[in-house]
Amino acid sequence: MGQTPDMMRAVIAEGSGGPEVLKVVQRPVPRPGDGEILVRVKVAGINRPDVIQRQGGYPPPPGAPDILGLEIAGEVVAAGPGAGRFSVGQAIMALVPGGGYAEYAVAHEGNALPVPPGLSLEEAGAIPETYFTVWTNVFDRGRLQAGETFLVHGGTSGIGTTAIQLAKAFGATVIATAGTQEKCDACLRLGADVAVNYRSQDFVAATKDATGGRGADLILDMVGGDYIPRNYDAAAQDGRIVQIAFLQSPKVEVDFRRLMVKRLTHTGSTLRPRSPAEKAVIARALEDRVWPLLAEGRCRPVMDSTFAFEDVVKAHARMDGGEHIGKIVLTL
Ligand SMILES: NC(=O)c1ccc[n+]([C@@H]2O[C@H](COP(=O)([O-])OP(=O)(O)OC[C@H]3O[C@@H](n4cnc5c(N)ncnc54)[C@H](OP(=O)(O)O)[C@@H]3O)[C@@H](O)[C@H]2O)c1
Repeated sequence: MGQTPDMMRAVIAEGSGGPEVLKVVQRPVPRPGDGEILVRVKVAGINRPDVIQRQGGYPPPPGAPDILGLEIAGEVVAAGPGAGRFSVGQAIMALVPGGGYAEYAVAHEGNALPVPPGLSLEEAGAIPETYFTVWTNVFDRGRLQAGETFLVHGGTSGIGTTAIQLAKAFGATVIATAGTQEKCDACLRLGADVAVNYRSQDFVAATKDATGGRGADLILDMVGGDYIPRNYDAAAQDGRIVQIAFLQSPKVEVDFRRLMVKRLTHTGSTLRPRSPAEKAVIARALEDRVWPLLAEGRCRPVMDSTFAFEDVVKAHARMDGGEHIGKIVLTL
């Protein structure tokens, strides 16, 4: 593989705990297997699931490296057997099951995408995890349609900022919740029709107010806990609720009569354990439906901050602090 070294710098969590458990260590450069490409990583996106993994709550699925990191942007340096879509030197971004916080990473070529024109590599490295997650949960599973009302919790999270923009681009009315006025203002700037500060307003009442009493057709929730019964209240008749995390709690007492009477659908999913083939289906849908929007500037990752690779501890501390709006990335 030409000039590729044998060893590289990579970030692992030594034990579990706060950002300080993250260590930059030496690891062998991975070799691309069947259908895989080797990428010289220039940008590694940081996601909340990395924080949960660091805290010991989200171990890598079988076969995934213990090196952190679920999304990368960089340059293709080699292709494994049967991988032929991208040429050496091409700039790509990719969803990876782990291994992103490193100088080199392997990606399944079906889970990689070209960088749309006009986008920087930093922006590209901030895209895969949230775009794949939003597409599969909001549009596939949640079946959001133009003209419907979409309620997204955590409106300024990486996921939330992506969900607001894509839902607006596809013609939905968007209600977003966030924990400060500054974050609510950011949601409105991104295109949300209504932003609800959940610390000072009841999101159920605000959703009802905004929809003439109907409620939201689709709710994307990462909070859980007491949001579960409240989402049932905020949902419209025949509404859908898609659960992607439980930042508050996965356990709660719920009166399910509301689900039955309103004919609600409550579902959820996780992205990381899915097979490369399943993720490739999402990648193709994104390339067809969303990449033209990125190229036209109709959606764009919201960049909170960029940290040097060596400052990964500071980058995780920024996410732990919870003041960020949009995406945090590492550059190499
Ligand atoms: N299922 C999947 O496939 C999948 C994939 C990717 C991510 N996720 C999940 O999606 C969530 C967002 O990920 P991300 O990377 O976008 O994270 P992020 O940028 O760190 O956002 C987390 C957001 O949650 C809100 N929040 C934090 N703790 C909360 C609490 N206890 N109650 C209410 N809100 C809280 C914060 O907003 P406020 O300050 O406004 O409260 C923040 O905007 C994470 O939970 C992550 O695990 C799931």
